[in-house]
Amino acid sequence: MSVESKQLVPGLAGIPAAESSVSYIDGQAGILEYRGIRIEVLAEHSNFEETAWLLMYGKLPTSKELSDFRQRLRRSRELPKGMIDILRAMPKNGHPMDALQAGVAALGMFEPRFEFGDEKGFEHAWIRLLAATPCIVAAFDRLRAGKEPLAPDPELDTAANFLWQLTGKKPDDSATHVLDCALVLHADHEMNASTFAARVVFGTEADPYTSCSAGVGALTGPLHGGANERVLESLESIGSLADVDAWAAARFAEGGKIMGFGHRVYKVKDPRSHALQKLGAKMFAKLGNTPIYDVALRLEKIVTERLGGKGIYPNVDFFSGILYQKLEIAKDQFTPVFAIARTAGWLAHLHEQMQDNKLYRPGQIYTGGHELPYTPIEKRG
Ligand SMILES: CC(C)(COP(=O)(O)OP(=O)(O)OC[C@H]1O[C@@H](n2cnc3c(N)ncnc32)[C@H](O)[C@@H]1OP(=O)(O)O)[C@@H](O)C(=O)NCCC(=O)NCCS
Repeated sequence: MSVESKQLVPGLAGIPAAESSVSYIDGQAGILEYRGIRIEVLAEHSNFEETAWLLMYGKLPTSKELSDFRQRLRRSRELPKGMIDILRAMPKNGHPMDALQAGVAALGMFEPRFEFGDEKGFEHAWIRLLAATPCIVAAFDRLRAGKEPLAPDPELDTAANFLWQLTGKKPDDSATHVLDCALVLHADHEMNASTFAARVVFGTEADPYTSCSAGVGALTGPLHGGANERVLESLESIGSLADVDAWAAARFAEGGKIMGFGHRVYKVKDPRSHALQKLGAKMFAKLGNTPIYDVALRLEKIVTERLGGKGIYPNVDFFSGILYQKLEIAKDQFTPVFAIARTAGWLAHLHEQMQDNKLYRPGQIYTGGHELPYTPIEKRG
């Protein structure tokens, strides 16, 4: 069916682009569910591997399914030497999201060719992408610092292994728990920009690696995943608690956006932001407070007093960076961490789309001319 519409909806806001049962948002009530389960419940009881399975198959795994899945992930992490060479050749001062976008696409070149519609081939790509994406992020981080990448630890799951490969230190349980929960909270978010980008590319019957690479590209920008890095830059530039009011007043006066606030769908505080805050409170009680958290709380109060009436509240990116900083993750690695988590969501959407694929090809409202003359170059002013 094709529908002719002359009504432009900027940013396709609110226009359904697919039927999906992967996740659900109620933006007025501040609800997010993965396959019908509230994310607060998953953050408390689940873990990243189980959540990735849930997103893919629409049901929680049995303990055998989960332990087999974990083993497969642990066995599928190793990066080929050629992949390390590619990452080594990248500019050390380049952004890790660019390295990741190129890295994820390149990973597919080392894998068996994917035939669209092949369930087994898709499952292979699902495991490989979930397992290897964190390793690409960690490997680039070490290479740019002049260190060699570390081998994955087959005893560890995704969050702990990532922290190990990134820092070279075996993380304690509380650090692992914080990252694991953050991965759960970032794993999917229905038809967001990066999921849509991945779906568009997959809709052409491209392979899952190229499609996830498109997702990474879309996640890079400051209006989407790139906001978490910008939030921390803002909080650091404010300096101290005493400076928050003046900083916010200056921002309001110039009419600029404040990173980490506002959402296309949520018109209340993002439920992931609540959950991250709860997680942060536990972590700070254990590892000690961080002054930047107090700056953030004051900023939240000022911004929501001023803009809450317009439905502008903290989004997922507002608190995540503060937590990641406490885990000693570099600022420019915050968005790659988001991408590690969202890979689970992208792949669940792609798998769903593969069952009944249709090439995305929206229309446009043409605003140019017609039948214009061709002026020879020497006669052009
Ligand atoms: C996420 C975002 C793009 C959603 O925006 P949207 O639904 O397209 O809404 P718009 O950008 O059109 O903004 C609508 C109004 O709210 C204001 N607004 C939106 N987000 C704002 C913010 N973070 N700070 C200040 N004002 C904001 C806009 O200035 C605009 O005001 P106006 O109507 O007076 O012109 C937007 O809120 C934003 O840019 N936030 C900052 C970046 C960010 O944190 N991104 C991560 C998202 S998870």
